Amino acid sequence: MTYLWLKAGHIIFVIFWMAGLFMLPRLFVYHQEAPEGSEEAAKFAEREQKLLKIILLPSIIVVWVLGIALAIVLDAWSQGWLHAKLLLVLILSGYHGYMSAYAKKLARGERTLSGKQLRLLNEVPGLAVAVIVVLVIVKPF
Ligand code: HEM
Repeated sequence: MTYLWLKAGHIIFVIFWMAGLFMLPRLFVYHQEAPEGSEEAAKFAEREQKLLKIILLPSIIVVWVLGIALAIVLDAWSQGWLHAKLLLVLILSGYHGYMSAYAKKLARGERTLSGKQLRLLNEVPGLAVAVIVVLVIVKPF
């Protein structure tokens, strides 16, 4: 039963984490369409910080804790699919960190990425999730 509860919790927080990672770059795009220094831009900065603090940070922590707990319960450390999965999750965690840093820059009024670049960045979590889910369900190696 422990394994099933761990996996249920893991997948629930994976969904929260992905939802936050999909939303944040989208907020950045709309934020950058608002006039710099405007009340609208300040509102977007507030929304981005709330998303980071209330959804994204707790989710990434719980996904890692329950994921590692699952790997311990299954003694899955020697399995190739988990190695590949961990590499992708590390990249996603780096993406999370990069987006969190960009939110701070935007709050200071620094708009260094174009709307097009942000839309392209928005595709990263989608691609990573597709490969991660195939790795963990199909376990091809
Ligand atoms: C953060 C590091 C992570 C670790 C260490 C980890 C590890 C694991 C392990 C050991 C399992 C159990 C596999 C099994 O039951 O056979 C599992 C299940 C699962 N993980 Fe993760 N995971 C992590 C992050 C993620 C992420 C980011 C996603 C999706 C984006 C994800 C999606 C899933 C899914 C869908 C399952 C259920 C698979 C099944 O039902 O067989 N995991 N994870």
